[in-house]
Amino acid sequence: MSDHFASRLALFGPDIRSGLEDLYCENVDEVYARIIALADTTHGARSKALKARDLERPSDWYQSESAVGYVAYTDRFAGDLKGVAHKIPYLKSLGVTYLHLMPLLKPRPGQNDGGYAVMDFRNVAPNLGSISDLETLAGKLHSNDVTLTVDLVLNHVAYEHEWAVKARGGEKKYQDYFYLYSDRTLPDQYEESLPEVFPDFAPGNFTWNDELSSWVWTTFNSYQWDVNWSNPDVLLEFLDIIGFLANKGVDCLRLDAIAFLWKRMGTACQNQSEVHSITQILRSFARIVAPSMIFQAEAIVGPNDVGAYLGQGRFMGKVSDVAYHNSLMVQIWSAFAARDARLMAVALNRFEKLPPGTTWTTYLRCHDDIGWAIDDSDAQALGWSGFGHRSFLADYYSGIFPDSPARGVLFQVNPATGDRRISGTAASLAGLELALETNDSHAINSAMDRVFCGYAIVFGFGGLPLIYMGDEWGLLNDHSYLLRDEEKADSRWVHRPHMPKFEDLTEQGRDIALQLSARITRLATARKSLPQLHASQSSTVVTTSHNGVFFVVRDGERGVLVEAYNMSPDPAVLSLDEFPCEVTPVDLITGDELDFGDQVHIPGFASWWLLPS
Ligand code: GLC
Repeated sequence: MSDHFASRLALFGPDIRSGLEDLYCENVDEVYARIIALADTTHGARSKALKARDLERPSDWYQSESAVGYVAYTDRFAGDLKGVAHKIPYLKSLGVTYLHLMPLLKPRPGQNDGGYAVMDFRNVAPNLGSISDLETLAGKLHSNDVTLTVDLVLNHVAYEHEWAVKARGGEKKYQDYFYLYSDRTLPDQYEESLPEVFPDFAPGNFTWNDELSSWVWTTFNSYQWDVNWSNPDVLLEFLDIIGFLANKGVDCLRLDAIAFLWKRMGTACQNQSEVHSITQILRSFARIVAPSMIFQAEAIVGPNDVGAYLGQGRFMGKVSDVAYHNSLMVQIWSAFAARDARLMAVALNRFEKLPPGTTWTTYLRCHDDIGWAIDDSDAQALGWSGFGHRSFLADYYSGIFPDSPARGVLFQVNPATGDRRISGTAASLAGLELALETNDSHAINSAMDRVFCGYAIVFGFGGLPLIYMGDEWGLLNDHSYLLRDEEKADSRWVHRPHMPKFEDLTEQGRDIALQLSARITRLATARKSLPQLHASQSSTVVTTSHNGVFFVVRDGERGVLVEAYNMSPDPAVLSLDEFPCEVTPVDLITGDELDFGDQVHIPGFASWWLLPS
C-alpha cells in the first residue's frame, strides 16, 4: 500500500463503515473487508499517470470561475469517441474545461432510453468505439485541461444486462439483485404512494415477467430493471464499476436517477436518507482509490430535497460534489414567459447556502424535458396559483398561449395530475424557430437575445455552467425522431439534434451560429477573470420596481459582482438608486461602456455584469 493510499483509507474508511451501518443490519464487518480489498486492487491497477493526476489536480477545479461545461452525445457531436478528440480545439475555442459525454456505456439494442438502459458497464456502445478508445480520449482531454464526465446509471440496468439475464435463468444470487414480487400485493401497496415517471409510455412502476413469474420493479421503462441496493452484493458490483471507470480516466461520474435508489413503503421512494448513505460509501471509495474523481448528482427533485445531495447534516462533505440546479433552469424559462422575475427571486433565495466544496451545475437546457417544478407555496407568496402558473408555462412553451413565440413539444401529458412537461431546444423555446419561419428579423434577434440572456444567467449565477450541444449555434427542434420507431413516442428526441457541419448550415444559420457562439464564448472569457464567480461564493436574487428586471448579487471574500438582467423583450427604466450598490457602468461581458444617468435604460433581454465603483 502506498502511503497516500493508506492515509486516505484511514481518513475515509470510517465513512464507508458508517454508511454500511446505516444500510445493513448484518455482516457489516464482512462487507467492509470486501470493500477494502476491492479498494486495494483498484488502486493497485491505477496507472501512474492517473495517480500523479490525483495528487496534482486542484481540489476546487469544478468550483473555479474558469470552469465551463459542455454536454454532448458522442455520435451526434462527433461520430464516435475518436471523433471527439478532433473536436477538442473546438471545445477549447468555446472556453470549455469540462466535457460530459452523454450515456456511452453499452446500451441494450433498440429502445434504450437514450442510452440509460445499460447492458454492460465495462464496454462502450459499439457505434462509438471501444473502452480503450474511451481511455485514449480521456488522456487527450486531460492533456488539454479538459475533464471527462460519464454517466453511471445507478438505479437500473437493461433487461439484457448479465445480472438480469442470470436472474431470468434461475440464479438466485442474481434474482436478489432485483425487486421481484410473485403477486400484486406489495406492488399495489407501493403504487399507492409512487408517482409515475413516464405515465404516458411507461405507466406504473412494475412490469410482469413470464420467465420469473414475477412483477419486476421498473420505475422508468419496462426494459429498465431497478436494482436492489439493500443487497450489499449490488453495492460491491457498483464499487467495482466505479473503480473500473475511474481507472480509464473518467474524472466525474454523473449519478443518473440517484434519487430513486432506496425504496420504502408508503413513500414516493425518492430522496430516502439511505440514498445518501449509499452515496457516502461510493464517494468515500472513490476518494480512496481515485481522489481526483468527483460525483455529479442527477437529482431532479424538489428544492427542499435537492440540497441533501450535496451533503447536509452528517453527510456534509461526504456525498456528491455537484448537482443540477433544476430550479434555476425552470425559473429562467418561467421568468421569460411571464416577463416577471419575482417568482424566481422567491424560489432561488430560499435555497440554503451550499456546503463547502460543492456547487451546482447550472444549465438552460439539457437532454431531458422541462418539468414545471414550480412550488405551490412559492407561487402563493406572490398571490399566484401554482397550478395556474404551471398550466400557463405548458401553454406558453407548447406555443398555444396567444402570441407565444415558443415551439415546444408536450411530453408525458398526465390527465390525472394535469402535468404537461415540455421538450424543445433552447432556440426553439426562445422563439427562433417561429422567427425563422416567418422571416422576421426583429424576432430572430430577439430570440437570440433571449437564448443569450438565459446563458448569461447560467454563467453568472455561480456554479459550473453547462452548454448543451447545439445551443451555441441556435439549433432548432429536430422532428426526425418521429420517423424512428424506437424514438417516436419520446418527444425528448426533438431537442437532441445532430451537430451539423458548419459549412452545411444555410447562410442565415451560419450567421446565427457565429453570433451566438461568439457571445457565449464571451461569457466564458469574462467569467474566467471574475473570482467573484468562484462557486464558494453564493448569489442573491434582487427584484426591482420593474417586474422583468432583476439583479444577481455575488458578494463575499472574493469581491462583489452585480449582474442585471431584463427578462422581458421591452426596455425598462430603473432609477440608479435601485442598484444594489454603486457600479461602474461597464458591462464586463462585452466590455461596452453603458450610458447611466439617474435613470438607467435597460434594453429588452439585457444581461450586464458590473463591478462596484
Ligand atoms: C435520468 C436521465 C433520463 C432518463 C432517466 C432514466 O433522469 O436524465 O434521460 O430517462 O434518468 O434513466
